[in-house]
Amino acid sequence: MTAPVTADVLGTPRTDLDAGRILRRARDLIAPALAEAVATLHPWVAEMADYALGRGEGDSGRRQGKGVRQTLAVLGAELAGAPASAAVPAAVAVELVHTFSLLHDDIMDGDALRRGRPALWKAYGTGPAVLAGDALFALAVETLSTAPAAVRRLTGALGDLVRGQADDLLFAHRPWTGPERVTVGEYETMAEHKTGALLGCALALGAHFGGADEETASALDRVGRHLGVAFQIVDDLLGIWGDPGLTGKPVHGDLREGKKTLPVLAALDTPSGPELAELLAARDDLGVLRAVALVEEAGGRAAALHEARRHLAAADCLLDSVPCSPRPAAELRTVLRALTRRTV
Ligand code: IPE
Ligand code: MG
Ligand code: MG
Repeated sequence: MTAPVTADVLGTPRTDLDAGRILRRARDLIAPALAEAVATLHPWVAEMADYALGRGEGDSGRRQGKGVRQTLAVLGAELAGAPASAAVPAAVAVELVHTFSLLHDDIMDGDALRRGRPALWKAYGTGPAVLAGDALFALAVETLSTAPAAVRRLTGALGDLVRGQADDLLFAHRPWTGPERVTVGEYETMAEHKTGALLGCALALGAHFGGADEETASALDRVGRHLGVAFQIVDDLLGIWGDPGLTGKPVHGDLREGKKTLPVLAALDTPSGPELAELLAARDDLGVLRAVALVEEAGGRAAALHEARRHLAAADCLLDSVPCSPRPAAELRTVLRALTRRTV
């Protein structure tokens, strides 16, 4: 086995430290409003929401998640020249939607572990976890209810998220090779939908609440979508070569479930493709381990990293064309780089 991936795209340790500070600043700003929103729920549902959000836990950083979406909302408002506080409703809404999507995603993917402990459906049961997800979704819409244009942006992103999740599930039943195989282009559209849409929405909603015009908000939405594809590719890499002790998620789950992740799709497009397809079809433990080695040997890991870098560069380039305040723009670039060299 090779060393766990750090997905080192462009960053430096310094970038990681700075990004940690930016993420913490957003978390500290949004936490009281998030707590206030959750407290309006039915007590049992609020308890599940607290579990899912990792609230009231000692090991807070790990249980709470990175808070990427709330940070993007805060930076979106600041990019538009507004104070960070303008982003609060947007940040709460996107963080709630993200948490809701993970609750339902773990059920769809059959993943029993999230952030180093039982996924909510394992801890409370599938029915209650579906209900808690529904509650968080409703709460997110409620948070934006006085701003119809913001609700429209959020529901648009949710439509894409559902589209992406549908393709992700359908792709798992498609063959690894032959005319019905999943192409890299199809993968990228799926990743933009399931992950990029909400990241784009976070930046755009923050900008919207910061007073930005539609054109600026839409340009930031595109920045976030590119970031989302890069983020998803790194998620794929971590799902194969990550350290489960750090990610808090099972390793090789995607391979066993037949998920069409980019490192595997890229390796299937090489002369090792037929041998790899045979190993993957077996789905047994030994086959999976040999498939992991072959994906790397065939260059699938390197090709996926290259593609993540390409999307990161595209996000950077698009950001250049958006008229915005320099300090939050520099912070957004710091976050972009750190997210593609993350280990969790
Ligand atoms: C999750 O995608 C995307 C959404 C919840 C919409 P994945 O299934 O690839 O993510 P993880 O690995 O479970 O976090
Ligand atoms: Mg999943
Ligand atoms: Mg999934």
